[in-house]
Amino acid sequence: MKILITGGAGYIGSHTCVELLNKNNELIIVDNLSNSKYEAIKRIKQISGKEVKFYHTDILNEIEMDIIFQENNIEAVIHFAGSKAVGESCQIPLEYYKNNVTGSIKLFQMMQKHNVKKLVFSSSATVYGLNDNVPFKEEFPLSATNPYGRTKLMIEEILRDLYSSDNFWQISLLRYFNPVGAHPSGLLGEDPQGIPNNLMPFISQVAVGKLEKLRIFGNDYPTKDGTGVRDYIHVVDLAKGHLKALEKLREGHGCQPYNLGSGEGNSVLEVIQAFEEASNKKIPYEIVERRAGDIATSFADPSKANSKLEWKTKKTLLEMCADSWNWQRKNPKRY
Ligand code: NAD
Ligand code: WQD
Repeated sequence: MKILITGGAGYIGSHTCVELLNKNNELIIVDNLSNSKYEAIKRIKQISGKEVKFYHTDILNEIEMDIIFQENNIEAVIHFAGSKAVGESCQIPLEYYKNNVTGSIKLFQMMQKHNVKKLVFSSSATVYGLNDNVPFKEEFPLSATNPYGRTKLMIEEILRDLYSSDNFWQISLLRYFNPVGAHPSGLLGEDPQGIPNNLMPFISQVAVGKLEKLRIFGNDYPTKDGTGVRDYIHVVDLAKGHLKALEKLREGHGCQPYNLGSGEGNSVLEVIQAFEEASNKKIPYEIVERRAGDIATSFADPSKANSKLEWKTKKTLLEMCADSWNWQRKNPKRY
């Protein structure tokens, strides 16, 4: 299949490209490299031993996107491109709405113009808002608590409306839980700019000696040990979910959301313990105030993806930590 991947140089996109190439798909990657490096494209080719077509383009650039659609016989799109930092989205909301919402609308218009109506969209568990009635099920009411989350919710709504207007569209809304880990080769991984916001890259940088200690945001939550509980999912398992979602689009299923998570919740202290075991490094930490906007517990009910997509996570928390550590240790100065 000939697939356009927006944001394919990024963390989840790059891992998905490798899995798609392993199954002999032809890829056209569009990325403006605002949060990634060209090196990731080289490494996708290195791991897979296959070529990809890469366009250093912004999805907001209609002229260039039009040419890309004209030059390539694209059959489906996986849309990763977007900005993803929750804190930053509160500082510069207009940039987030422009990049995520306007960028997505322009992409969907371009798809419509070229009659490409198969789409896999990177949504997020953030669309469940402050709900802490776990596990989260796809039919739960949706809401958002920050501009980033609102962009994901708006794009989901736009896509539901688009499908209602034209049933030829086939759309998967993949709600990722907490993607972590890296490619087992140590060649691809998460490459945050500056001080990481998310738990696993922060712990990795403490382990490698770049950061002094982890700050645990609260130990007074109503959870097993008082620290926040999340559904961590290995990025390679997540990448494979995209292949299953694409297969389903070919069969035709309308516009469907799927939770991509393991169905298990782990606390911050459990993640630290697993990382220490995987890396043989001590992770110093201190307990600080709760982080604004955090919920106590979030984990998926993945049964819809398990049955309808025939997809299930395989990798354990220890494997996630081992691969995160392998990536960090081999790339201490990033890509
Ligand atoms: P990432 O930042 O590593 O990847 C996004 C890629 O999109 C980057 O390479 C960036 O350069 C590119 N990009 C951004 N704006 C663009 C534009 N206008 N035109 C072209 N390229 C552009 O992020 P990721 O972690 O790989 O996330 C991928 C998608 O999954 C995002 O949409 C994100 O919101 C979503 N998501 C991520 C997580 C997570 O925890 N990582 C969880 C849920 C959902
Ligand atoms: C995990 C746990 C923190 C950092 C975010 C986005 C979400 C989605 C995934 C895109 C929580 C605790 C963290 C630290 C800590 N992204 N923590 N010290 O908040 O579940 O989700 O990323 O869609 O939208 O909100 O992930 O990795 O930031 O936090 O104690 O330095 O670790 O409080 O309990 P989160 P996270």
